[in-house]
Amino acid sequence: MALLPLLFFPDPRLHTVAKPVPAVDGRIQTLVADMLQTMYEAKGIGLAATQVDVHERLIVIDVSEQRDQPVVLINPQLVWTSAETHLNEEGCLSVPGIYDGVERFDAVTVSALGVDGKSRVLQAEGLLSVCIQHEMDHLKGKVFVEYLSPLKRNRIKKKMLKAQREEAR
Ligand code: NI
Repeated sequence: MALLPLLFFPDPRLHTVAKPVPAVDGRIQTLVADMLQTMYEAKGIGLAATQVDVHERLIVIDVSEQRDQPVVLINPQLVWTSAETHLNEEGCLSVPGIYDGVERFDAVTVSALGVDGKSRVLQAEGLLSVCIQHEMDHLKGKVFVEYLSPLKRNRIKKKMLKAQREEAR
């Protein structure tokens, strides 16, 4: 297993639209293991392949307190969304230190392949539902700050670029 380097907003590669995973093979299983390790190390609850510069439809999530219930969704598709939505505070490993409200469906049903290559359907609500929607946005090239006002987004962009410059020194 290996820790993978993350892309940070406003890196333009975060806007890449991911392609379907062609086959759940050894390459993908290694990628899943590395992404889980990277997510746990960064204390995140979700990670999309886009964030490690792999532009294929693959996300990993663990919203459990014990950090022992990984959810792997390969080629995920939303098959149902609730009528109700809610404003939830979100953060992102690619936008460290920034938290803001995003409107999301309360519940979703997603179909996807697991790491075993088998198809499954997952019903999610609460934090898991929010996390699935956030990570699936990454696969479309969308970062959560893009839901915020242009003013807020620009402020975040400047703050991130400044922090990245200081870190590079
Ligand atoms: Ni994110």
